[in-house]
Amino acid sequence: ENIPFVEELLQKMTVEEKIGQLNLVTPGGGVATGAVVSENVEAKIKAGQVGGLFGVAGPEKIKMAQDFAINDTRLKIPLVFGSDVIHGYKTTFPIPLGLAASWDMALIEKTARIAATEATADGINWNFSPMVDIARDPRWGRISEGAGEDPYLGSAIAKAMVKGYQGSDLSLPNTMLATVKHMALYGASEGGRDYNSVDMSRIKMFNEYLPPYKAAIDAGVSSVMTSFNDVDGIPASGNKWLLTDLLREQWGFKGFVVSDYTSVNEMIAHGFGDLQAVSALALNAGLDMDMVGEGFLTTLKKSLEEGKVSEEQITQACRRILEAKYTLGLFEDPYRYSDPQRPAKDILNIENRKLARTAAARSFVLLKNHNELLPLKKDVKIALIGPLANNKNNMLGTWAPTGDPQLSVPILEGLQKVAPAARITYAKGANISDDPELAKKVNVFGPRIEIDDRSPEKMLQESLDLANKSEVVVAVVGEATEMSGEAASRTDLSIPESQKKMIRALVATGKPVVLVLMSGRPLTIEEELALPVSILQVWHPGVEAGNAVADVVFGDYNPAGKLTATWPVNVGQIPIYHSMKNTGRPATSETFQKFQSNYLDAPNAPLLPFGYGLSYTQFEYSEPSINKKEVAQGESVDITVTIKNIGNYHGEETVQLYLRDVVRSITPPMRELKGFKKVYLKKGETKLVTLTLHADDLKFYDSQLNFVSEPGEFEVFVGTDSNAATKVTFTLK
Ligand code: IFM
Repeated sequence: ENIPFVEELLQKMTVEEKIGQLNLVTPGGGVATGAVVSENVEAKIKAGQVGGLFGVAGPEKIKMAQDFAINDTRLKIPLVFGSDVIHGYKTTFPIPLGLAASWDMALIEKTARIAATEATADGINWNFSPMVDIARDPRWGRISEGAGEDPYLGSAIAKAMVKGYQGSDLSLPNTMLATVKHMALYGASEGGRDYNSVDMSRIKMFNEYLPPYKAAIDAGVSSVMTSFNDVDGIPASGNKWLLTDLLREQWGFKGFVVSDYTSVNEMIAHGFGDLQAVSALALNAGLDMDMVGEGFLTTLKKSLEEGKVSEEQITQACRRILEAKYTLGLFEDPYRYSDPQRPAKDILNIENRKLARTAAARSFVLLKNHNELLPLKKDVKIALIGPLANNKNNMLGTWAPTGDPQLSVPILEGLQKVAPAARITYAKGANISDDPELAKKVNVFGPRIEIDDRSPEKMLQESLDLANKSEVVVAVVGEATEMSGEAASRTDLSIPESQKKMIRALVATGKPVVLVLMSGRPLTIEEELALPVSILQVWHPGVEAGNAVADVVFGDYNPAGKLTATWPVNVGQIPIYHSMKNTGRPATSETFQKFQSNYLDAPNAPLLPFGYGLSYTQFEYSEPSINKKEVAQGESVDITVTIKNIGNYHGEETVQLYLRDVVRSITPPMRELKGFKKVYLKKGETKLVTLTLHADDLKFYDSQLNFVSEPGEFEVFVGTDSNAATKVTFTLK
C-alpha cells in the first residue's frame, strides 16, 4: 500500500529532516489559542524544521512560505497549509450548532464544499474541521462548534462535512484535507469547564461518544486531531490505546494524527514528566504531528539516541504526513493552491453569500409563536431593540477567524432591505452585559461587549419610548460571540441580567414582542418562555445574519430548524439529553414523589426537548404503521406515518424516529434517535413518510464491547421531536 514516491523520498531523508516534517507551526495571525506562539518560523522552514504552517493565508503569502521550503531546503518538500475553517472561510455560515439544527445533510455538505473552495483559493489545503465532539453540557462553550448531543445525527453530519471538504479527489485545487477532532471525548469535560478531565466508561464511549469520529474515518477523513483531555487517565495526545489500538488497529485509520495546540507539552502539567518524556510518549502512542509546542522538534533526536523512541516510529509518522502531501498533489505542484486569480472569483461571491443566507434561515428554530405573531407583515411599524440588533461584531459567531465581522449584515439592515415599507426605529436598549469584567474576558478578538457611556436607565427609556410608538417590538438579545466557543464556559446559562430587565420592561408596555435570540449554546430561558412573547432562536447566524433573520421574520421563509441539544430548565439539570436511561425508580408523575428519581426543586423534563422546533404552519401526524412485526437479522423494517400540513403556510418538517430496545444486556436508553427525514409540504398537502430501520441500526456495544443486536421487543416512536408519543413495536428474531 505504500506510495513508491514517498518511500523513495524517505530513503533520502535524514532523521532530522524526518523530525522536521512532524513540526506544525503558526506565526500567529490571530489564531494563537494558547500561551505559546511559534518563533523564527521563516528560519525554521528554511532549515527543514517545519512540515506545515497554519495561520497564514492568501496566495502571495502562501507562495512566499512555500518558496522557503522549495528553494531553501535540501529535499524541497512542500509545506501543507492548515486553518480552522469551522463554519465557512470568508463566507461565514451559521455556527455549527445552528447548521446542525437544519437537519439538512445536503445543505451542510454544500456549506463545507463552499468553505473548501474559498479556503483553497486562499492557499489553504488542510482544514481543522469537522469538530464532532458530542456535547451534553451546555456550560461547555465549545458546544457551539459541534452538532450537539446525539451520535446518530452527529455521525451523519460528520460524514457530510468530510465529503464537502474533501470532495471525491483530493488532488483537485478546490478540495482540502479534513480533520476530525477532537479525538476523543472532549465534549464531556467535567463540569463543562474547558480543557478539563474526562472520565467515562468504555460502554458509554463506544455507544454514545465515539460514533461521530468513526463516521468521519469511515468517510475517508485524512487526519485526526487529538483532544486536550485525558481518556482513561491518559491525555489523548499520549494515549496509545486511543491513537493506535482503537484508531488504527480497530478502525483502520490510514491518515495522520496531529496534536491540538501544545497538547503534547500540556502533558507535563497532566503529570507525565518533562518535555522529552511527553514527546516520546506521544510519538510512541501514535501521534504524527506536533502542533506549535515543538516537543518533537527539540527532543525526539535525543530520545532516539537514548532508545526511548525508534527511528521506525519517526519514519512512520513522517510517512503519513508525506502521503497526505502527496495526495494533495503538492509534490507535483507545490503552488497548486497559490493561484492569485482565484480569491476574487471564488471568495465571498454572490452565490456563496446566497448560500450563507439560505443556510442561516434554515438553522433558525422557532421556539414559541405567541398568538401566531410571526410572521410579521412587511408594512408594520417596528421598534427594533436590543444590543444585538445593529451589531456587526457579533454576527459571525465563535471560531470564525477567517471571516470579517465588518462584512456581516446586521439585523437592522436586513429588515430594512427585505421590508422597505416597514417603519423601523432602532434603539440599543441595554448592553449585552453591564459587567466590565465579563466584557474584558470576552473582547479578546474584538469589541464583542461594548458598554455604553449612557446609563442603563437612559438606554432602557429610549427603547421604551420607541416601543410605545410601535405596533410590534422585535428585540434582538442573547450572547455575544465569544460568550461561547473555546475557553468560554459559563456556569449561568441565562440571558444576561441587563437584557432580562429590558425584556421585562418591553413586555410590560403591552406591545406584542418578538425575541430574536442569539446564542452559541442552549440557554436557560424559563422566564422568557413563560412571557407572552414569540421567540426565534437564531444562534450566531453568520455573514448574512440580517438578511436571513428578515427572511424568516417576514415569512419569506418558514422556519423549520429543530434543536440538536436539549435546553435545560436550569443548570442543575445538566447533563440532560434525550437518550438518558431509565432508573430503577423512575418518576411516575410530574410532581415530586419521595423515593423516586426526581428533584425537590425542578422537574426532570427539560425546558425544550431535543428535536424541538415549531413552524408557522402546523403538521398533523397519523399513528405510525409498520410493515412487519417480526424482523430477522440482516433485514429491514419500514415505519410509515401520514403527515398533513393543516396550517396556513407551506413548510418543512423533520420527521424523527426514536428507538427503544425494551430488554437488553446493558441498560438501554429510554429512546435514541435512529432516523429522520425532512419533508416539504404545501398548505393542505398530505404526505406518506417512510423511515427504514435496518437490523444493523439495532446494534450497540455490549459489556464486552462487541457490536451486537439482541433478539426481543423494540418500540419505535415517530413524531415531531424526541417527546414523540405514538409508537409501534416489533420483535427482532
Ligand atoms: O483546531 C484548533 C482546535 O480546535 C483548538 N486549539 C487550536 C487548534 C488550531 O487552531
